[in-house]
Parts: sequence; structure tokens; C-alpha cells
Amino acid sequence: MKIIVKKKIKDFNKIISVDGDKSISIRSLLIGSQSFGLCKIKNLPKSGDVLSTINGLKKLGIKIFFKNKICYLYGNGLNGFNFKKNIIIDAGNSGTFARLLLGLLVKSPHSIKIRGDKSLSRRDFERIMYPLEKFGAKFVANKKKNLPLKILGSELLKPIVYFENKGSAQCKSSVIFAALNTPGKTIINAKKSRNHTELFLKYLNLPIKIINKKNYDSIEVSGEKQFKCFDYVIPGDMSSSAFFIVLTLLSKNSKLKIKDVNINPSRIGFIKIINKMGAKVKFINKRRVCGELIADVCVNSQKNFKPINCPVKLNSNAIDEFLIIFLLAAKASGVSSFKNLYELNKKESPRLKLASIILRKMGIKIKLGDGSIKIFGNPNLVLNKDILINKYHKDHRVFMTSVIAALSLGGKWIIEDTESYMSSFPSFFRILRKIGYKF
Ligand code: S3P
Repeated sequence: MKIIVKKKIKDFNKIISVDGDKSISIRSLLIGSQSFGLCKIKNLPKSGDVLSTINGLKKLGIKIFFKNKICYLYGNGLNGFNFKKNIIIDAGNSGTFARLLLGLLVKSPHSIKIRGDKSLSRRDFERIMYPLEKFGAKFVANKKKNLPLKILGSELLKPIVYFENKGSAQCKSSVIFAALNTPGKTIINAKKSRNHTELFLKYLNLPIKIINKKNYDSIEVSGEKQFKCFDYVIPGDMSSSAFFIVLTLLSKNSKLKIKDVNINPSRIGFIKIINKMGAKVKFINKRRVCGELIADVCVNSQKNFKPINCPVKLNSNAIDEFLIIFLLAAKASGVSSFKNLYELNKKESPRLKLASIILRKMGIKIKLGDGSIKIFGNPNLVLNKDILINKYHKDHRVFMTSVIAALSLGGKWIIEDTESYMSSFPSFFRILRKIGYKF
């Protein structure tokens, strides 16, 4: 299926809520599966990645059901999965589910095959296999070390000392999950990245110690401690909010309030970057819910944006928002520069490469380097041509960025593989309709 967008959005003044955060949702299900008893999870989105997690956990013997929009999950304790031999878990498009689940399988008595869709099957799993093998797990994988692969756990797990140097929260979290099932103390020195797993385990009073150093976090996890079921409320997703924040900034005479968004400091690199470019996004009504910081996000449309020399230290905290940041840079009055973004080409699609293709199609001059991009912004940019977006590996963030570009800058955009957005943000079109767009 394809969508054609050929009209800009009209001015709007609305209050919206976005779907629950993808990272926290997947963690809540995986951590719940290791607890004892009935967990109650509110505001869990029925996005593709979350559904892959639910279906995978069901195959591993975890009972999960929805009643009155609330998700209930019966945890079976640490390493309490109960499944038939030779099962295959399909992680779909979700790198987070596949990589974090592997951490929980380090003690599995039978081998389990994990597979994914075409995009996930291109992605690197060596980054996970390496530390999990050090715990004692065994893998059967192809030469490229990507999916499909098989994992076989061990009864004789050993705690490890692990250095995570990519700033990957998936690697860090997978190792923390493996540590939960391993006797003794695992030590992780991790380059800063989103810390939802750590906050979740702290919220549950599990033995996790975090020492925040300047450039990295030192995390100690003592394993084999059983824990009870919990109630949890998933906050709104900052990465999904980012699309509507930029849409508001780039539209005329518009105003938006997004309620109950997760503003964990490790997730607001995007806000820091666009505020440096001159946006004036504000957080009001700040509070802590289930260990996470939440606020309502307020944004108004604006005329001028400054270019940015983006500080590398913000990269990991804005890693999922760069496509939409690049769109703002395309309208800035000067040249913006982004460096050290090698990880961006390892996402659901090679995002840096695709961003350069799309920006060029929009008539924006760019200079693509190795892990870097310079964007020559044009504040007077108005589009009145046809732009075809295809062959983008069905990357949900490429899809939604393209729709926002069409709605804010004009032109006729033909965007293929419409279903892509479902993997992280099922309410995307419902919210667009609410703020006045007629598809
Ligand atoms: C995620 C971590 C990030 C992010 C992904 C979700 C997580 O990936 O891009 O969308 O939930 O831990 P990396 O760990 O590969 O940086």
C-alpha cells in the first residue's frame, strides 16, 4: 500500500496523547515475564514491536491477555519459561525484543531459534552474542552473525565484567537481563544510553547499583533474586512525540500540547538539540511515575531556526530522532553538521544514507561523510514537485518523517509501504486526523 500526501496541514491548536513508549513497553513485558504473579500494565500500545514481544512470550509459556485496555501478564519467575523443544520465536521488526530476549535465555535448557523480518535479519547480533557467550550461553549463527540464530543456555553461568562502548541500550539491557539469571555480581561499564532497564529494576527494588561517571555508567547487578509481580503505567513515547513537535514547529500559527510524555534525561537529546536550534519546547507538570520522569510537552510554531554543530555527546540520547532533526536542519538558516553517527546506519534501515537520499530529493544540498552529514539549510524551502519515497526497508521512522515533511513543506509525496508506521506508533494517523488533516 502507498499513501499520497499533497496538501499541507492547516493551522491547529490541540492537546494530544501519543502511544506508550516502545522501549519501556517491551521491557515491562520481558521483566514481567521473570516476576512471580499477575502484572498489570496500563497504556501498553498494540504496536507491531509490542505484539511481536507478546506473541514471543506466549510461545515461551507466559500467559498474557488484555481486559478493558489493560494488559495482564502472569510471570513465572526467573528462567521460568515453559516451552516445547524446537520452537521458533519471530521477533518481527523488533531489535529491542530480539536482543533483550536473548539475555533472558542464557539459562535455557533447550535451544531456541530466533528469527526476524527482512530488515531485522540484516542487523548485527555479534554485539549481543559476544557478552552472552562470556556468561556461558552458546550460539549457532551464520558467518555474518545475524538472524536467524539459535541460542542454547547453560546451567553453569558465570557473572562477567562487560564494557559496552557503542552507547547501545539494547546491549546494556541484554547483559543486565542475563545478569538477573546468573549467580554472583555482574559489572557493566556502559557508555551513556537510555537507562529504562536500570530504572525499572530500581523501581522493583532489585539489587542493582548504578554509579554515574562522566562518560559512562558503572552498573552492578546481583543475580538470582526472585521478585514479585508489579503494576506499571507506560508513559508516552518521546520518539513518537518528536514527529508532532517538528510538525508544529514547521507549520504556521499552530500550537500543541502532548500529555504524559516520558522526559527521562537519557531520552531528551532531541529536545536539547532543537532548542539549541531556536525551538522553545517546554515541559510542564513534571512528575515521576513508576520510576520514570513524565511531563506535558508544549510547543508553538516558529519562523526561524539556527543551524547546529551537533554536540556528539547528545547523539546517543537522540539516536531515534535524527531523521526528524535533519528535517528541521533543512529549514535552518545555515549549514548544520552532525558527526559520529555510525550507529544510525545500523538501525531498521541505513538511516544516514536514506536521509541523504530524501534530503537531496527535496532539493537540499548535503555532504555525506563516513558517519557524518552536513545539511545546507534553506529557510525559504517550499516544495512543489513530486517526491517518491520507496525502498526504505519499511523503516517506520523514515515513513513518518516523510509524512511530516509532506504536511509541513508541501509538494506531492508518494510514500510506499504505508503499514511501516505500525511497528512503533499505531495512533500516528488517528492523531493527524485529530489535529485536522483529512486523508
Ligand atoms: C533501544 C535502543 C536503541 C534504539 C532502539 C531502542 C532500546 O538501539 O535505537 O530504537 O529500547 O534499548 P541501540 O541499543 O541499538 O542503540
